[in-house]
Amino acid sequence: MRLLLLAVLRPHTGNAVTAQRVRAHLEAAGHVCVLKDAFDFGSPSEIANLILAENCEAALALHLYRAGRLLQGHRIPFGIIFGGTDVNEDAKQKEKNTVMGRVLEEARFAVAFTESMKEMAQVQWPHAKGKIYVQSQGIATTPNATFNWNTFLQRSEWHQDEPSVYLVIVGPEVDPVFTREVKAKVKRAAGVRLIGEMPQGDLHAAVKNCFAVVNSSVSEGMSAAILEAMDLEVPVLARNIPGNAAVVRHEVTGLLFSTPQEFVHLAKRLVSDPALEKEIVTNGKAYVRMYHSWQVERDTYQQLIRKLEGSSED
Ligand SMILES: *[C@@H]1O[C@H](CO)[C@@H](O)[C@H](O)[C@H]1NC(C)=O
Ligand SMILES: *[C@@H]1O[C@H](CO)[C@@H](O)[C@H](O)[C@H]1NC(C)=O
Repeated sequence: MRLLLLAVLRPHTGNAVTAQRVRAHLEAAGHVCVLKDAFDFGSPSEIANLILAENCEAALALHLYRAGRLLQGHRIPFGIIFGGTDVNEDAKQKEKNTVMGRVLEEARFAVAFTESMKEMAQVQWPHAKGKIYVQSQGIATTPNATFNWNTFLQRSEWHQDEPSVYLVIVGPEVDPVFTREVKAKVKRAAGVRLIGEMPQGDLHAAVKNCFAVVNSSVSEGMSAAILEAMDLEVPVLARNIPGNAAVVRHEVTGLLFSTPQEFVHLAKRLVSDPALEKEIVTNGKAYVRMYHSWQVERDTYQQLIRKLEGSSED
């Protein structure tokens, strides 16, 4: 089939990575996937033109509200994948909630990343019961074998005595105001380095080269970075918030902290206790294999996409 895959594609963000992975799964099954950024389309008629020009027979939207709503009424079968903000934020607004309900009515299937996301969606839109599937995000890490820190950090800046206690913050600058705040803080903090986005293979290699991965986020979400660290057998130190606690079990698959003092305490403990490190890393790897299998994700999407074959409802 020729499929339109509509997603929110800000580069190097979780959504873009997920969209690319789903595209690879579908193309591996022989489909052609036309991947487009939902933000490039202002109206349903622009999407209609695209569907016509690209000769798409079916579509898949990553993000029910931001992408799915653009697929309504084009008379091609489609499925949707819930984005994090769909159920957590957009559903709380009455107007958006109504739109999302209508899109779900038309969708042939919907994918939630977690059981709890599925349950929340079913409470919002009871009519969608029976077409919501749970498929966690598949994790496959591909560290660049020739990665070299020096491409990203000047050697003279590297901490000579204790390289493992540097904190390196990696990622794209998304919010300009927040970026300015972070840059100002980092300037005053010894041992903290800010580097921009990097190719995924380099990022995985960089993570593999680190002693631990830290997630100090206070906002909700599901951290692919944490799962990738587990896959790369690097210990995880994460703030104890529901999104992180869902994947990190304290002292089992990682360490959870609530205060800066607790972070320092746990980080020191991890440095001085190789047995703990080994256990966490082993459990983390097993967890990702069991619950975030890339192969299982591939099988699921290849099966679900068959629901879009043929123009009549099954
Ligand atoms: C891997 O790292 C090398 C050296 O830093 C770089 O030249 C190359 O482009 C990287 N490869 C990929 C696929 O990112
Ligand atoms: C940190 O965790 C939050 C919550 O799980 C997640 O939304 C965010 O993407 C994570 N960031 C990194 C870099 O791990």
